[in-house]
Amino acid sequence: MTQDSHTTRKILVTSALPYANGPIHLGHLVEYIQTDIWVRFQKMRNHECYYVCADDAHGTPIMLRARQEGIEPEELINKTHTEHSADFADFLIEFDNYYTTHSDENKEIASTIYKRLKADGHIDVRTVRQAYDPEANMFLPDRFVKGTCPKCGADDQYGDNCEACGATYSPTELKNPKSAVSGATPIEKDSEQFFFKLGDFQNFLHEWLDAGHTQSEIANKQKEWFADGLQDWDISRNAPYWGFEIPDAPGKYFYVWMDAPMGYMASFKNLCNKKGIDFDAYWGKDSKAQVVHFIGKDIARFHTLFWPAVLHGAGFRTPSSVYCHGFLTVDGQKMSKSRGTFIMARTYLNNLNPEYLRYYYAAKLSSGVDDIDLNLEDFQQKVNSDLVGKYVNIASRASGFITKHFDGKLLSPLHDKAYMNSVHDTKNLTAEAFENREYAKAIREIMKHADNINQYFDDKKPWLLAKDENKLAELQEVCSRTLHGFYMLSILLAPILPATCTKVARELFGLDRNFIWDDLESFPQTINKFKPLMTRIEQEQTKKMIEESRDNITSASAAPATGPLADDPIASEIEFDDFAKIDLRVARIVKAQHVEGADKLLQLTLDLGGETRNVFAGIKSAYNPEELQGKLTVMVANLKPRKMKFGLSEGMVLAAGPGGKDLWILNPDEGAQAGMKIK
Ligand code: 2FM
Ligand code: ZN
Repeated sequence: MTQDSHTTRKILVTSALPYANGPIHLGHLVEYIQTDIWVRFQKMRNHECYYVCADDAHGTPIMLRARQEGIEPEELINKTHTEHSADFADFLIEFDNYYTTHSDENKEIASTIYKRLKADGHIDVRTVRQAYDPEANMFLPDRFVKGTCPKCGADDQYGDNCEACGATYSPTELKNPKSAVSGATPIEKDSEQFFFKLGDFQNFLHEWLDAGHTQSEIANKQKEWFADGLQDWDISRNAPYWGFEIPDAPGKYFYVWMDAPMGYMASFKNLCNKKGIDFDAYWGKDSKAQVVHFIGKDIARFHTLFWPAVLHGAGFRTPSSVYCHGFLTVDGQKMSKSRGTFIMARTYLNNLNPEYLRYYYAAKLSSGVDDIDLNLEDFQQKVNSDLVGKYVNIASRASGFITKHFDGKLLSPLHDKAYMNSVHDTKNLTAEAFENREYAKAIREIMKHADNINQYFDDKKPWLLAKDENKLAELQEVCSRTLHGFYMLSILLAPILPATCTKVARELFGLDRNFIWDDLESFPQTINKFKPLMTRIEQEQTKKMIEESRDNITSASAAPATGPLADDPIASEIEFDDFAKIDLRVARIVKAQHVEGADKLLQLTLDLGGETRNVFAGIKSAYNPEELQGKLTVMVANLKPRKMKFGLSEGMVLAAGPGGKDLWILNPDEGAQAGMKIK
């Protein structure tokens, strides 16, 4: 359905709030790019549209990460907020407000909602038995208890499910359980917890799910939870916890997932206060505005069961739409640190233009929940062929004739009926596709138009017309129509390529503002001198990005190797023979030095008892080069040499620790000798 662009709608749009303890990566960006394109389209259509987001700043992992780094949680979340904001801005994700869930507004909203739910009898208090770490003196979330799977016997499994056999269980069922915080054996302890009675909203949710607020496959999936009756939801956690204390319940905190979605409201509230927008017109019970959430399918349950129920129970309006998307794979596989395909936003930006990724994702996105694949070869090919070869090429081919022969003056293509019909169809089909989040379809329409324009230009051979005095009128007509085509493509592409299309609007067509959708109804009269807009992607660039991603991981200091904060699951089992292939040797560090341009690496010269090796090790955060010289360490001596950005690395030094300053190279006894085999 295409909404009439002249009826102004009020639309509040959100993307999921990223956790405040890790960097933005290309997987996250599928959603922010998808949302940003939709928002820019709505704004171009003159709707009153706001796009808000925030960091998801509470919870145990953030509390523990801050502890590991030896800083207060506030410092961690502030630092992350700065990094996230810069990544988003550089990917041209234009929020109207990017806030944090750790805010006064959110505290107030969480408290109001909780009090209303409680007053209406939707909160229950119950005693719950949970795993408790007697050394760290804290209750342990399921993910922070590890042990042997009670079903298949696999070691080192989380307290909620087994990654080896898929069994689900509670942490108390794990064999040989250990706390991932202190390593102590957890005990069981009773405490009172607060539950939100989701079952009170069963009928309401049934209707809500049937009313088309989310994709049907998502709605159907959620309905499976109704079969055994909806379970109450534990919304509280015991101190120590990093979050908001529950009103009138000292030592009890809201579970992070309780106040996270409220962060949507709080970020908007903060914007309303700054801009004088009427908050209730968007969130009040009788609001006529649209509230639209973009999320990943993994968090659909929170957004299509708990969240509407909480809002409804507390007397707020519920979301108009919860649009779910799939996950990102890179070259057909899950993003992987060792393959270098776990690509951080910043690593991409160091190597490539953000608009290329925006375009590529758009070319793959539909309104469905299928995963999308970033195939690096296809990425390079598609960007080069569509954007450089077809789109910007049009302007570079036609504009020279107009500036040279006609002083920049363009003729209107209005009389060309066949062309105007195709213009009409393309703009309507593209608008409809954007509105319905069918971006791949929008791009197909746009590129079809680009092909037609290029074909027309080729057929008319303006380079020949320019040579004939008598054909100059025709030359002006051909180039004008071609440049009108370019003007139109630039408006249609503006939600996807905002930086380039801003340049086109202002520099090439001399507007004093960015394009709006209604510009499609008019024709440019003049054109300024064309300046190059985009360059091709060279294979070197994607290769460098992958290498840099691998180097980030080699530097290992960002995340601990195991435990609940590690981002990669435990790799699949290897045979003893595989292990036996690893040649571990004692090595003496004869020289250690900084590497210019590397944040995390030190360059080590290692003596293996005669033979020397050059190794880059990601231990700069923990060691000064001087203190390493002369020390013994342990290295993998038969690792295939790897070309890194800074040179050849001929082995790997073993280190352990949570990261940052707490990273230790293995340091055998001084009695050991360089070159000695150690297993
Ligand atoms: O899954 C996540 O990354 C969460 N931080 C998303 C929260 S979205 C909203 F509910 F706040
Ligand atoms: Zn198992």
